Amino acid sequence: MMKIETDYLILGSGIAGLTVAIKLALKFPDRKVLIVTKSNEDESNTKYAQGGIAVVMDGVSDDFEKHIHDTLVCGDGLCNRAVVEMVVKEGPKRLTELIEWGTQFDLNETGNLDLAKEGGHSNSRVVHYKDQTGREIERAILAKAHQQPNVEILDFHFATDLITDQNTCYGVSVLDEKANEMMPIFSRFTILATGGIGQVYQQTTNSKIATGDGIAMAIRAKAKISDMEFIQFHPTALYAPGSASTFLISEAVRGFGAYLKTKKGHRFMLDYDVRGELASRDIVSRSIETELKKSGDDCVYLDCTHLDQIEFQKHFPTIYQNCLLEGVDVATAWIPVIPTQHYLCGGVEVDWNGLTSINRLFACGECSRTGLHGANRLASNSLLEALVYAHQIYTYLGETDSENTTYLSKNPLYLNQKAKTISSEWVSKHREELQNLMQHNAGIVRHDIDLKNTLKLLQLRKNEYREMEREYAVTKDFLELKNSLEVSIPIVAFSLKRHENKGSFYKEGQTKMTANPNGRGL
Ligand code: FAD
Ligand code: SIN
Repeated sequence: MMKIETDYLILGSGIAGLTVAIKLALKFPDRKVLIVTKSNEDESNTKYAQGGIAVVMDGVSDDFEKHIHDTLVCGDGLCNRAVVEMVVKEGPKRLTELIEWGTQFDLNETGNLDLAKEGGHSNSRVVHYKDQTGREIERAILAKAHQQPNVEILDFHFATDLITDQNTCYGVSVLDEKANEMMPIFSRFTILATGGIGQVYQQTTNSKIATGDGIAMAIRAKAKISDMEFIQFHPTALYAPGSASTFLISEAVRGFGAYLKTKKGHRFMLDYDVRGELASRDIVSRSIETELKKSGDDCVYLDCTHLDQIEFQKHFPTIYQNCLLEGVDVATAWIPVIPTQHYLCGGVEVDWNGLTSINRLFACGECSRTGLHGANRLASNSLLEALVYAHQIYTYLGETDSENTTYLSKNPLYLNQKAKTISSEWVSKHREELQNLMQHNAGIVRHDIDLKNTLKLLQLRKNEYREMEREYAVTKDFLELKNSLEVSIPIVAFSLKRHENKGSFYKEGQTKMTANPNGRGL
């Protein structure tokens, strides 16, 4: 069995993982930085980001206080104020760095960054590249990572479990998919940057990779996790029944002036919040859910027909094309939309330096819980959080890693050699069951009784999966299913324990849904 040792082991090649990797590689040219990623190196939620990065770049009409205020209002009282202040104030420096690394952003006619508006923002402050911001960022930072001689990327390598001893992380066990072999990778420091959990739900805007692996590994290693009940549903995913994946219609389209309407043409958002279509997404999603319950319709509509169509196509070429493929010409027809799982606000708890409750284990990006988002993330604050916390981790390691930390002396054996392999049919059947349960019982509006029944079934399945793992050789699909189940349990269990509706979390019967003229509605 191959034995790999590295100074810094990074799990994941989205914005969080690549940014930490580049920074550490530049700071320590004689140390090894290894990125392990389970699919193509660019496959990630990052690649699909549309709207952009929220940063205060216009010092005339905008300021840090406004961005801090918007983030705190959106988080509904559960943000960590010190974290919010730090992240917002670091934003401009981290964005400048991203531009220096070769990322393109749209400029306005005066040659300055073009700033878009999104839900929950009191000012235009979202820096973007058309409706392909994530694709452009991923392209640029992957290229930058490849330029570093001390960075190695192992694609199609699936991290299965953290190697820990006495609450210290020494690396990770990995399934090399192509060779179908398990092996350990030992590291002095490990950084989880494995992204979100969207695939736990039937309908999600997330990439196929989003199966909660990093959080599940952290749970098994007994790291602290929190805020798992705060699942964000994006109000406007394209409603296209039968389609294999769910396409997002960026919030920036509403920022550009689109109206949300019922089938009968009523512009309903003003009934719920003075900010109308640009209320925070928890409020817009719940308002849509309420309207759909009232009408019995399958979807609501985004009306863009009154907008400047030339400008629309310039700003949103991918959205325009995808709608056309579904038979919707945005210039003349309304876009059918529904709320869809989009983002996990919680995750592996980290401190100011991105350090988890396990020594030598960091977490960054969507898999982490920093305290920035509270009960609901403000639009376009996720890419920002990943950039800022990548910098925090780099700064901390830069100041504290004197190379005295050593590798684990033991050499555990990892084998995946059993006579029988878990079948793909078995995995598909159980994946469908899990996604169905979570979609219906842990969605926008939850009920205690459904949550209780779901939790019982999930715990039963956990024991069954364990038995399967003892008897059969595991596959990547099975490991993803096991991780999805592992993270579903705290989503449901924490939902049962929360007795106050906050931000993206809503249990029926707890607090009354009321319109609030002060800008926090349902
Ligand atoms: P990801 O980018 O998801 O990367 C995770 C990486 O980990 C991948 O490389 C994956 O292969 C790897 N990985 C996972 N499990 C394993 C494993 N077991 N072993 C090895 N590797 C593994 N946020 C904004 O701020 N602005 C936006 O405009 C915006 N738009 C969005 C649009 C869409 C459609 C979606 C889905 C999200 C959007 N978000 C947006 C959210 C944002 O894109 C993500 O939260 C962010 O990109 C997450 O970055 P990350 O690096 O943490 O994870
Ligand atoms: C979008 O473009 O609407 C997504 C932005 C985000 O998730 O922050």
